[in-house]
Amino acid sequence: MATTEFGQGQDYVTWSERYDVGISFMDEQHRKIVDIINELHRSLFALKLDETEEEKEKEKAEGIKKSIHAAVEYVKVHFSAEEEVMRKIEYPKFPAHKARHEDFARRMLQDVMRFSSGDKRVGMQLVTFLRDWLLEHIAVADKDLALYAKSKGMK
Ligand SMILES: [Fe+2]
Repeated sequence: MATTEFGQGQDYVTWSERYDVGISFMDEQHRKIVDIINELHRSLFALKLDETEEEKEKEKAEGIKKSIHAAVEYVKVHFSAEEEVMRKIEYPKFPAHKARHEDFARRMLQDVMRFSSGDKRVGMQLVTFLRDWLLEHIAVADKDLALYAKSKGMK
C-alpha cells in the first residue's frame, strides 16, 4: 500500500518501485496519475492567508475543480492507451479489464457531478478513492496485463 500518512510538504501518495509493472508506457502514466492525485490533494488543502474567507473558498473550489478535471482527462487518456494495447496484443482478459475501467470512469463522473452541485466533501472522498483504486488496479489487473504484454515482447 502507499504511504498514507500525511504531513506538511509531503506527498499524499509516494511512488514506490514495487508499483512498477515493467511496461514503460504504463509505468510512466501511472506515475503521472500519482502526481495528479498529489496535486488534487494539495489543492484540497490550499489556503492563502491574506484572503478573505469568501475569496479563499472561491479560489480553493476553483483549484479543486481544475485538479479534478485534470485527473478525469488524464485517466481517460491512460485507459485508452491501455485498451489500445490490449486490443493489439489480443489480451484474453480485455473485456473484464475494460469493464473495470468503465466502472471506475462512471464512479468518477458521479463524484464530479456531486462536487459541481456543491457537495464539497466529495473532493476528499474522490482523492482517497482514486488512490485506493489505482494502487489496487495496478497491483492486480495491470500487473497481469503487463505480464501478458511482456510475453508478447513488449517493454
Ligand atoms: Fe488498467
